[in-house]
Amino acid sequence: PTIHYILKDGSTRSIDAKPGGSVMENAVRNNVRGIDAECGGSCSCATCHVYVDDAFVALLPPADDMENDLLDGVASERQPGSRLSCQITMTAELDGITVRVPETQI
Ligand code: FES
Repeated sequence: PTIHYILKDGSTRSIDAKPGGSVMENAVRNNVRGIDAECGGSCSCATCHVYVDDAFVALLPPADDMENDLLDGVASERQPGSRLSCQITMTAELDGITVRVPETQI
Protein backbone atom coordinates (compact mmCIF):
# COMPACT_ATOMS: atom_id res chain seq x y z
CA PRO A 1 0.00 0.00 0.00
CA THR A 2 1.12 3.53 -0.75
CA ILE A 3 1.38 6.30 1.83
CA HIS A 4 1.56 9.93 0.75
CA TYR A 5 3.24 12.28 3.22
CA ILE A 6 2.73 16.00 2.71
CA LEU A 7 5.84 17.66 4.09
CA LYS A 8 6.21 21.06 5.75
CA ASP A 9 7.45 22.64 2.53
CA GLY A 10 4.27 21.52 0.77
CA SER A 11 5.93 18.78 -1.27
CA THR A 12 4.66 15.21 -1.21
CA ARG A 13 6.67 12.05 -0.55
CA SER A 14 4.97 8.86 -1.68
CA ILE A 15 6.32 5.59 -0.40
CA ASP A 16 5.50 1.93 -0.81
CA ALA A 17 4.62 0.86 2.73
CA LYS A 18 5.14 -2.47 4.39
CA PRO A 19 1.74 -3.90 5.33
CA GLY A 20 1.53 -4.39 9.07
CA GLY A 21 3.94 -1.55 9.77
CA SER A 22 2.71 1.76 11.12
CA VAL A 23 2.57 5.05 9.24
CA MET A 24 5.30 6.22 11.65
CA GLU A 25 7.60 3.22 11.04
CA ASN A 26 7.29 3.62 7.29
CA ALA A 27 8.15 7.32 7.59
CA VAL A 28 11.25 6.64 9.68
CA ARG A 29 12.40 3.81 7.41
CA ASN A 30 12.15 6.10 4.39
CA ASN A 31 13.64 9.19 6.05
CA VAL A 32 10.45 11.20 5.78
CA ARG A 33 11.19 14.37 7.72
CA GLY A 34 8.92 15.86 10.34
CA ILE A 35 7.83 12.71 12.17
CA ASP A 36 10.18 12.58 15.14
CA ALA A 37 8.77 9.53 16.93
CA GLU A 38 10.95 9.97 20.00
CA CYS A 39 9.44 7.05 21.91
CA GLY A 40 9.85 4.64 19.01
CA GLY A 41 6.18 3.81 18.72
CA SER A 42 5.06 3.03 22.24
CA CYS A 43 2.39 5.74 22.25
CA SER A 44 4.02 7.89 24.89
CA CYS A 45 5.71 10.85 23.17
CA ALA A 46 3.18 12.42 20.75
CA THR A 47 6.00 13.47 18.39
CA CYS A 48 4.63 11.33 15.58
CA HIS A 49 1.55 13.55 15.18
CA VAL A 50 0.07 13.77 11.67
CA TYR A 51 -3.07 15.19 10.09
CA VAL A 52 -4.92 12.41 8.28
CA ASP A 53 -6.75 13.39 5.11
CA ASP A 54 -10.54 13.60 5.58
CA ALA A 55 -11.19 10.78 3.13
CA PHE A 56 -9.27 8.33 5.31
CA VAL A 57 -10.20 9.42 8.82
CA ALA A 58 -13.33 7.25 8.89
CA LEU A 59 -11.38 4.16 7.75
CA LEU A 60 -9.21 4.23 10.87
CA PRO A 61 -10.14 2.66 14.17
CA PRO A 62 -10.86 5.47 16.63
CA ALA A 63 -8.08 6.65 18.92
CA ASP A 64 -7.97 4.83 22.24
CA ASP A 65 -7.86 6.74 25.55
CA MET A 66 -4.09 6.84 25.69
CA GLU A 67 -3.74 8.22 22.16
CA ASN A 68 -6.57 10.65 22.78
CA ASP A 69 -4.87 12.02 25.91
CA LEU A 70 -1.58 12.44 24.07
CA LEU A 71 -3.30 14.20 21.18
CA ASP A 72 -4.50 16.83 23.66
CA GLY A 73 -0.87 17.72 24.27
CA VAL A 74 0.56 17.80 20.72
CA ALA A 75 2.87 20.70 19.86
CA SER A 76 0.93 21.81 16.78
CA GLU A 77 -2.78 22.50 16.94
CA ARG A 78 -4.98 19.42 17.30
CA GLN A 79 -7.44 19.16 14.42
CA PRO A 80 -10.22 16.67 13.60
CA GLY A 81 -7.81 14.57 11.49
CA SER A 82 -5.06 14.56 14.12
CA ARG A 83 -3.67 11.11 14.91
CA LEU A 84 -0.47 9.59 16.22
CA SER A 85 1.10 7.90 13.22
CA CYS A 86 2.58 5.07 15.32
CA GLN A 87 -1.00 3.98 16.04
CA ILE A 88 -2.02 3.71 12.36
CA THR A 89 -1.25 0.23 11.06
CA MET A 90 -1.01 -0.01 7.29
CA THR A 91 -3.41 -2.39 5.58
CA ALA A 92 -4.38 -2.86 1.94
CA GLU A 93 -7.56 -0.94 2.69
CA LEU A 94 -5.53 2.15 3.55
CA ASP A 95 -3.75 2.20 0.20
CA GLY A 96 -3.30 5.82 -0.87
CA ILE A 97 -3.67 7.30 2.62
CA THR A 98 -2.48 10.90 2.76
CA VAL A 99 -1.11 12.38 5.96
CA ARG A 100 0.20 15.89 6.51
CA VAL A 101 3.18 16.51 8.74
CA PRO A 102 2.52 19.28 11.31
CA GLU A 103 4.56 22.48 11.65
CA THR A 104 6.33 21.24 14.75
CA GLN A 105 6.47 18.12 16.94
CA ILE A 106 8.11 19.62 20.02
FE1 FES B 1 5.81 8.16 20.26
FE2 FES B 1 4.00 7.68 18.37
S1 FES B 1 6.13 7.42 18.26
S2 FES B 1 3.66 8.35 20.40
